Amino acid sequence: MPSRNEALVADFAARLITWQQRHGRHTLPWQGGASGDAYPVWLSEIMLQQTQVETVIPYYQRFLANFPDLITLAAADQDAVLGHWSGLGYYSRARNLHAAARRIVAEHGGQFPRDIEAILALPGIGRSTAAAIAAFAFGERRAILDGNVKRVLARVFGIDGWPGEKAVETRLWSLAEALLPEAEIKAYTQGLMDLGATVCTRGRPGCESCPFTADCLANIQGRQRELPAARPKKDIPEKSTAMLVLMNAGEVLLEKRPNSGIWGGLWSLPEFSGQDDPQIAAYRLGYAATVLAELPSFKHTFTHFRLFIQPWKLQVDTPRMASEPGRIWLSLDDLDGAALPTPVRRILMALRR
Ligand code: ADE
Repeated sequence: MPSRNEALVADFAARLITWQQRHGRHTLPWQGGASGDAYPVWLSEIMLQQTQVETVIPYYQRFLANFPDLITLAAADQDAVLGHWSGLGYYSRARNLHAAARRIVAEHGGQFPRDIEAILALPGIGRSTAAAIAAFAFGERRAILDGNVKRVLARVFGIDGWPGEKAVETRLWSLAEALLPEAEIKAYTQGLMDLGATVCTRGRPGCESCPFTADCLANIQGRQRELPAARPKKDIPEKSTAMLVLMNAGEVLLEKRPNSGIWGGLWSLPEFSGQDDPQIAAYRLGYAATVLAELPSFKHTFTHFRLFIQPWKLQVDTPRMASEPGRIWLSLDDLDGAALPTPVRRILMALRR
């Protein structure tokens, strides 16, 4: 007789597909496009990597209106692409999307590749995203394993350990592969995403409306809060910086960051060491300026470190120079479409009020 677990593995997909058809999401703007047109699917999967559906929808629609196809995107300026990503955060996604579009034009004649290895080779596309694109755009039978799916599988099958750990992740991938249906891969893949996003949520999961409620090990054992296990706590290093908010006639000076490193390609405030005097820092940039205010300091947390930011507001006294390459003067009224790092946006939005 098959074990309880084997029986669940065997009919997991069929039950999920039935659930998706009745209770899943069917009207998301990236659903129901022409089969084989991978561009909108790819764009939506990249936007959805670190951002929730409700936030993504208006960005997705605006982005598609501006860059309706891959060729248009490849031909666009990086600044225009980053500008339309403005506010979504994690801008490396936009830089990679743009770079990938150019690669597809150069190496695949402008046709999004069907081959999974070719998809995986594109910048910004990992194993799970490649599989989601292959499944949604081309109907390929591929397993996905994003954060939501890890949570669903860890709970239903009672898998202990932090999913970011290699051994746990390997186990989850094998399970994800073993669960794949022979047909209806789109409904199945969407079902996994929908269940994770709408029922098997991180806090307060809706176990009463879950198709696996009677079999889910986390539910049976009351371990929903413990699974999946959290990342082991570690102290993350702290760094500090000071930022110059150089104002002139309602405009602020921004510098373009190099493409590599944090905030790559974005327009940021000039930085200086918190030990230095802000007026001297402005002078080094070529401006005589007067300090108006020490603005409130705050912390910004990255994955690997925490940045303590002290902004200073200064008024430029010298007539300002024309914009040089890599520098712009941006009106505080034009923040919306600018590609700014989140903490810089926060500083400048506060000045606008
Ligand atoms: N999260 C990641 N991809 C998604 C999709 N295609 N639909 C809904 N949520 C998602």
